[in-house]
This record gives sequence, structure tokens and C-alpha cells, in this order.
Amino acid sequence: MYWILLLTSLLPWHPHATAQFLEPDCGYMSPEALQNEEHQAHISESPWMAYLHKSGELVCGGTLVNHRFILTAAHCIREDENLTVRLGEFNSLTSIDCNGSDCLPPSEDFEIDVAFRHGGYSRTNRIHDIGLLRLAKSVEYKVHIKPICLITNTTLQPKIERLHRLVATGWGRSPSEAANHILKSIRVTRVNWGVCSKTYWVDRRRDQICVSHESGVSCSGDSGGPMGQAIRLDGRVLFVQVGIVSYGNAECLSPSVFTNVMEHIDWIMAALSTTHI
Ligand SMILES: *[C@@H]1O[C@H](CO)[C@@H](O)[C@H](O)[C@H]1NC(C)=O
Ligand SMILES: *[C@@H]1O[C@H](CO)[C@@H](O)[C@H](O)[C@H]1NC(C)=O
Ligand SMILES: *[C@@H]1O[C@H](CO)[C@@H](O)[C@H](O)[C@H]1NC(C)=O
Repeated sequence: MYWILLLTSLLPWHPHATAQFLEPDCGYMSPEALQNEEHQAHISESPWMAYLHKSGELVCGGTLVNHRFILTAAHCIREDENLTVRLGEFNSLTSIDCNGSDCLPPSEDFEIDVAFRHGGYSRTNRIHDIGLLRLAKSVEYKVHIKPICLITNTTLQPKIERLHRLVATGWGRSPSEAANHILKSIRVTRVNWGVCSKTYWVDRRRDQICVSHESGVSCSGDSGGPMGQAIRLDGRVLFVQVGIVSYGNAECLSPSVFTNVMEHIDWIMAALSTTHI
């Protein structure tokens, strides 16, 4: 078992002293991903996806954000659970994932040594649904294991808030299936908070994003996974994470609530700065 730390108070962090991104070499878009207009994720499209499991059984999704940390939802981190992080996964039923003769190296399992859960999260308020998992050892980036972009330059926040068409990715079941072994992406659209507040009877929160979508996102198993978009910045096309799947309804119907990542960038940086503990 690992330590679970509740972190609310912010350690000093100077946004202006940092760069655009947490990891400079992030959000890699494969040629297939750049062309992909389909909903289906391609075998090499989301190398940052983390499959959080208990003896192989899916618990939640997450994203690799640097060599040591996985971003996920707070509600995925529970005292009584020993999660393992699998990276480089696509089809959870096969040990080597191939598309024809195009095969990925095997997926890799990592143990967690510390889990950080936002101290403001509770199962009743469901706000601040954000957590970080520190891996017991450093991750080596490979063709199928690479970090997603987290924007640390807060002056870019308005640009990110204007992204309306986004993509959510996960292994959660779709309404028609008992389980989904293949990573899938679905398009989602940012909508006014009123749409979520009418469905879930909750007040407007700055740290949450309401999205509408076809049924199938925010299903059990998708929690903790990313929502994001490819953006053009500094002459490159990079995939940036905008939200974390937080909650929806049992039938996996629209709308769903996502945690706003940029609203929590201070919390993320504070947790990351404790790597010496
Ligand atoms: C937690 O899971 C890992 C990987 O499955 C295993 O090696 C370890 O022994 C487990 N720890 C406990 C306390 O169950
Ligand atoms: C932050 O973004 C702004 C707007 O794009 C840019 O002018 C500035 O140079 C960026 N800061 C850093 C540290 O990259
Ligand atoms: C497999 O490769 C074909 C041809 O490049 C592509 O159209 C298809 O989307 C790929 N499928 C996956 C799951 O990557």
C-alpha cells in the first residue's frame, strides 16, 4: 500500500518563472492522430493514457504528465485500494497490441509510492476532483509511452477556455457493452454550466467544465481520464489536457462534468514540488 496525502495549502510557486508546459516534449501527435477524424482511438494515438488497475481489472483512467506522475480524479484514489499504473496500453486483452503488422512494444506496469488527493474533495461535494499518483520509479519515454501537455503558462488560459470541441479518451464501457477493452476517443462539446446544473442540481463552479456528448463518455471506468484538444502553439501541434473525467450519470448519457485542469495548475505544481518526500 502507498501513502495517500491530502493536499490543500499551496506551496509557493512562481508561474512566471516557468515555461509554457510542464514537460517541454509533450503532447506528441502521430501522423495518424493528426489526420484522425474518426471517434476510434488509433493504436499509437494516446501514448499518455494510463490504465489504473487492480490485478488487471480497470478502475480508472489517468494521464502521464512527466517522468514520475499520473494525473487522475480524486475519487479514483481510495484508502482501501492498491492501484497499479499501466502505461503503453491499448487493448487490455492482448499483451502485444498490433494493427496488422504494426505492433507496439508491450505495456509496462508501475507501482505507486505516493498518492495525492485534493484536500477540498469529498464524495458529497464532488468538487476539486483531482489527484496525482507518484510512481515508485521514473518512466522512460518510448514510442507508446509519452506525456500529455499541461499548460503552466497561465496567460494562455483564455485560449484554452475558448476550446469548445474536445476529445475524451478512455477504456470505460459503452452503454451497449459490458466492458470495453480497446481505448476509445469520443468528441465532446463544452456547454454552459446551466446544462449540468439542471441535470445534477449543482451550483456553478469555476473548477468544473460541463460537456455534452453522445452517450458513452463518463461511463464507469472512464473516470480520471483526459479530455483535451490538439492546439497549434509556437509552430507545433500538441495535444493539451483541458479536463479530467469526473462524473456523469449511470446511463452514460450527456451531459457530464469534468474537472478543469488549468484552474488547478497551482495545486498540481505544489504536489509535483514535493518529489523529495
Ligand atoms: C500492490 O500491488 C503490487 C502490484 O500488483 C504488488 O506487487 C504489491 O505487493 C501490492 N501491495 C499490497 C500491499 O497489496
Ligand atoms: C506565456 O504565453 C504568452 C502568450 O502566448 C507569451 O507571450 C509568453 O512568452 C509565455 N511565457 C513563457 C514563459 O513561455
Ligand atoms: C490501423 O491502420 C489502418 C491503416 O493505416 C488505419 O486506417 C486504422 O485506423 C488503424 N487502426 C487502429 C486501431 O490504429
